[in-house]
Amino acid sequence: MAKRKKRRLRFEPPARPVRPGLVTPMRQVPSGIKRPDYALTGTPGKTIGEPVKPPDVIARMREAGTLARKVVLRLGEEIAPGVTTEHLDKLAHEMTVEHGAYPSPLNYTGHPNYPKAICTSINEVICHGIPDSRPLEDGDIVNCDVTVYLDGVHGDHSETFLVGDVDETSRRLVDVTRQAMYAGIGAVRAGAKVNDIGRAIQDVAEKAGFGVVRDFIGHGIGETFHMAPSIPHYYDPRATTVLEEGMTFTIEPMITVGSPRAVMWDDGWTATTEDLQRTAQFEHTVLVLDGGAEILTRLPEEEQPYLPSSESTGVPAGS
Ligand code: MF3
Ligand code: CO
Ligand code: CO
Repeated sequence: MAKRKKRRLRFEPPARPVRPGLVTPMRQVPSGIKRPDYALTGTPGKTIGEPVKPPDVIARMREAGTLARKVVLRLGEEIAPGVTTEHLDKLAHEMTVEHGAYPSPLNYTGHPNYPKAICTSINEVICHGIPDSRPLEDGDIVNCDVTVYLDGVHGDHSETFLVGDVDETSRRLVDVTRQAMYAGIGAVRAGAKVNDIGRAIQDVAEKAGFGVVRDFIGHGIGETFHMAPSIPHYYDPRATTVLEEGMTFTIEPMITVGSPRAVMWDDGWTATTEDLQRTAQFEHTVLVLDGGAEILTRLPEEEQPYLPSSESTGVPAGS
């Protein structure tokens, strides 16, 4: 009888993989609030807008970005063991509509359309986790991704938060992912190429021994939620588009401890790593400037590390 090689896992599968919970019915948005096209029809309208935005769009995107930032910061205060992602979604939905905005993910086009106001992606969930009845557990990491549609434009922002006492590798993953996002923002300036962003991100991730997800990428944003240009978070030799002053897009790297390959749940949205090892994400919406970048998903009083005039670069203090 032939000797069979014993299969050995190269990683520890999670003791408690994330499982789908109960999702409550879609919440309503007051009728006075301006909606994006897909919210009205359930199907995408035509992608409008040029990659380079006029000053009035940029001014409105600053406001939308600041609101997205406020909601993420508020969610961060709420994160604790026992808190459900449903609770986070309700809070974000209510805060968004109180500020006169529409929660962009709500009814966003897909199969099926997205049912909630925000995405909450726990542990091995790469992105697009749907808020549900699952309570956060001590040791989890959770990304809260908030997009708001305010005054006709979107602002898209996310952070990964630690829940209680988190293991060393996961804490390093979260730190490296934040650094990778800022390194990507640091590569933005008029005249640079789109693939300079991915190169900078990949460099930080791989020096730390981590992987970069390729299946989900950053995107142009403005009056349309997802538009040109596409922003890969790895070095793509074909991504040679030259950045121009006034372009607005997201940088939102998803970094993995193990395999960067994604598999999807039956809900049509939740993407996890194939090996169920952990993954983290951070996201900012940025504006290309001559000689740097402005982070649009920012409170007015927060540091802007990559303005042409900024001296300090890297991860801003306190973030
Ligand atoms: N905010 C996500 C992004 O960064 C998109 C979420 S779309 C949704 O692009 F429908 F999944 F919510
Ligand atoms: Co985005
Ligand atoms: Co987002």
